[in-house]
Amino acid sequence: MEYQAKELFAKHGVTTTLGKVVETAEAAREAAEELGGVTVVKAQVKAGGRGKAGGVKLAKTPDEAYEHASNILGMEIKGLTVNRVLVTPATPPVEEYYFSFLLDRANRSHLCIASVEGGVEIEEVAKTNPEAVRQIRVDALEGVTPEKAAAIVDDAKFPAELRDQAIEMVQRLWQVYVEEDATLVEVNPLARLEGDKLEALDGKVSLDENAEFRHEDHQAFEIREEADPLESKAKDKGLNYVKLDGEVGIIGNGAGLVMSTLDVVAYAGEAHGGVKPANFLDIGGGANAQVMADGLDVIIHDAQVKSVFVNVFGGITACDEVANGIKGALEILGDEATKPLVVRLDGNNVEEGRRILNEMDHPLVTQVDTMDGAADKAAELAHGA
Ligand SMILES: Nc1ncnc2c1ncn2[C@@H]1O[C@H](COP(=O)(O)OP(=O)(O)O)[C@@H](O)[C@H]1O
Ligand SMILES: [Mg+2]
Repeated sequence: MEYQAKELFAKHGVTTTLGKVVETAEAAREAAEELGGVTVVKAQVKAGGRGKAGGVKLAKTPDEAYEHASNILGMEIKGLTVNRVLVTPATPPVEEYYFSFLLDRANRSHLCIASVEGGVEIEEVAKTNPEAVRQIRVDALEGVTPEKAAAIVDDAKFPAELRDQAIEMVQRLWQVYVEEDATLVEVNPLARLEGDKLEALDGKVSLDENAEFRHEDHQAFEIREEADPLESKAKDKGLNYVKLDGEVGIIGNGAGLVMSTLDVVAYAGEAHGGVKPANFLDIGGGANAQVMADGLDVIIHDAQVKSVFVNVFGGITACDEVANGIKGALEILGDEATKPLVVRLDGNNVEEGRRILNEMDHPLVTQVDTMDGAADKAAELAHGA
């Protein structure tokens, strides 16, 4: 969110104004009183285009800040509910520029995008005036040296009066990008204020989750109420889970197998009232009882789910271990397991795995030997439920 991005900017010496983040209109009034003068009330959601959506408003008095905050709080912007606003001093920009560093996966490098035509959505400028949006490759090993920063600033044609400030700012933004392990650092607008002062008036930062282990302070940036509760629960259990809109819960091992299971279930669902897969869940290689129980636990608490399809290919973890995992999971869950389970096992030690499940003879479990057949059965059960 903008206020969090600005905290990171401030930490690395990027000129910005932090303002105050509040969750009620009354607190917005108090913040405006404390700040004094004209303020801006800004919706805090993880989306751009807040200004256009009516989520950024000038307030001449604390009462106006109260009024704007009460309109903006609870508002939906691009499907996201606004739960907090930033109250910050109004500093009307004389000009607005666009600046970002991002990870350019396609070209296996870092990329700087800069334009002196910022403020509006950069995608629009890129369409109408592509020459004005400069794309400058940044070598990962060389990084942004003072010379590179100067080259960027000159290429983007920043005004001469701002050149030195811009060069400094670019290096500090690169510092945010590298030291915080970000995959995106974006400033739009990077504003020219009265008195030729450059300031980051907006900010967006994406942090690389793979680097979380070396940034304990990043945990504080996570905003739980925005996440789907089932996805949060799965995350706490270390599961690779994504909630989808459907009725057939899916558990598989290996991202590729799970992806094709989603396809097969969606296809089978066409013959059963259009039921669809309810989630992506990859339990990975070590499908022991606890992991299986954790996975099932998340899926059966999805109110939309009517049946569950467990599709496992025994590899390093053989089918008999997986079967024991399912057995153990049902014991762990006990009465909480209430939805029919269709299990398809194949691969290493498949006979033993199937034997264990047959012997268990659990009323909720149906075994089907093929992936297509199991998908069809799971879809049928979901439709009939
Ligand atoms: N502190 C501020 N003072 C004056 N104007 C501002 C301030 N912050 C933002 N604005 C104006 O509002 C516009 C939209 O705000 P911004 O933070 O960029 O949100 P978004 O990009 O989501 O629309 C900016 O382009 C700028 O013109
Ligand atoms: Mg913006």
